[in-house]
Amino acid sequence: MKKNIVCLPGDGIGPEILNIATEVLEFVGETFNHEFTLKNYPFGGNAIDDYGVSLPDHTLEASKCADAVLLGAVGGPKWDSGIERPENGLLKIRKELQLFANLRPVSVSPETSKLSPLKEEILKDVDFTVVRELTGGIYFAQPKRRTDEVATDTLTYERHEIERIVDFAFKLAKKRRNKVTSVDKANVLESSKLWRQVACEVHSRYPEVELEHLYVDAAAMELMRNPRRFDVVVTENLFGDILSDEASMLPGSLGLLPSGSYSTTGPALYEPIHGSAPDIAGKGIANPIGMLRSVSMMLADFGMSSESSLIESSISATLRAGFYTKDLGGNCSTDEFKNELFKELKKGVQTHV
Ligand SMILES: NC(=O)c1ccc[n+]([C@@H]2O[C@H](COP(=O)([O-])OP(=O)(O)OC[C@H]3O[C@@H](n4cnc5c(N)ncnc54)[C@H](O)[C@@H]3O)[C@@H](O)[C@H]2O)c1
Repeated sequence: MKKNIVCLPGDGIGPEILNIATEVLEFVGETFNHEFTLKNYPFGGNAIDDYGVSLPDHTLEASKCADAVLLGAVGGPKWDSGIERPENGLLKIRKELQLFANLRPVSVSPETSKLSPLKEEILKDVDFTVVRELTGGIYFAQPKRRTDEVATDTLTYERHEIERIVDFAFKLAKKRRNKVTSVDKANVLESSKLWRQVACEVHSRYPEVELEHLYVDAAAMELMRNPRRFDVVVTENLFGDILSDEASMLPGSLGLLPSGSYSTTGPALYEPIHGSAPDIAGKGIANPIGMLRSVSMMLADFGMSSESSLIESSISATLRAGFYTKDLGGNCSTDEFKNELFKELKKGVQTHV
């Protein structure tokens, strides 16, 4: 199979983890006879330095024409006080590629369950996906303004934005365990009242799927108290951002979780859920697992299930062999993890090709 993959390494630890992802993709391409075209483009803070904008036109054009986009992470203190921030590029690429659905799968593997701050009995059988609305809500709606005395953000959702993300969640639930938890703040927010109303309307098209509603504060608590109750959690942009970072504590680190963002027609974008981690950038200790699992999601979406499961099983084997990065309580470097991972990939080829 031929695939054109646009790579956006970004800032901080982004390039460190994306380099490993491209090496793994080259290995998978050679092993399984695929032709992956992998080309890096400027994006984020580095693009501000070189082009004055976080999402240069040629990066956007290449992304629109790609089969998929792989993103490391953007941002850092260097660009925090500028008018053009790296995060603007993130919001812009999501909007331009119409990536309205952000999928963030959360599961706890036996290799990491002992690393979580939560008790092992709470983590047993945890397997759910957060479906976060990604192109609407308070991150995008106007007006937005700030003076030294007052600042305003606007939270707006239109019916069609809610309908398409909730529909996406129900379709996903049908392939899983037939349960959707819709998270809102309908006791206070008007946008949440519309969200709940539309969720109920969409539910009437999927009677075989159970729908429950939770307020976001209760959902945050339930994620820690009884996470195995969840199958598909659908929620708006801001709540999804916060709840999925919270959920990363179930497997034990922000560095473990992948994500995929989807439109109805164009290329999907895959990235770990964490940021650019400026506190550890350049130290060679970043955990590449969230990035590698994002690659595995991409390959599964290409229909390359053996390739995807080879990556997953090699990550598990690397952890079983005792290679834990610092965020997981270990002392292995990113390079040591990569070297062991490649040993496992080579061993795993016999069973996966
Ligand atoms: N999609 C993105 O590119 C994205 C997402 C979130 C934050 N950001 C940006 O990233 C910058 C830093 O934000 P932050 O510090 O709040 O969040 P962060 O996710 O970068 O880091 C939070 C903590 O988790 C650790 N961490 C994160 N990923 C890790 C990994 N792979 N391995 C080991 N440790 C890891 C970091 O060292 C840090 O202590 C900011 O500029 C922010 O705007 C970007």
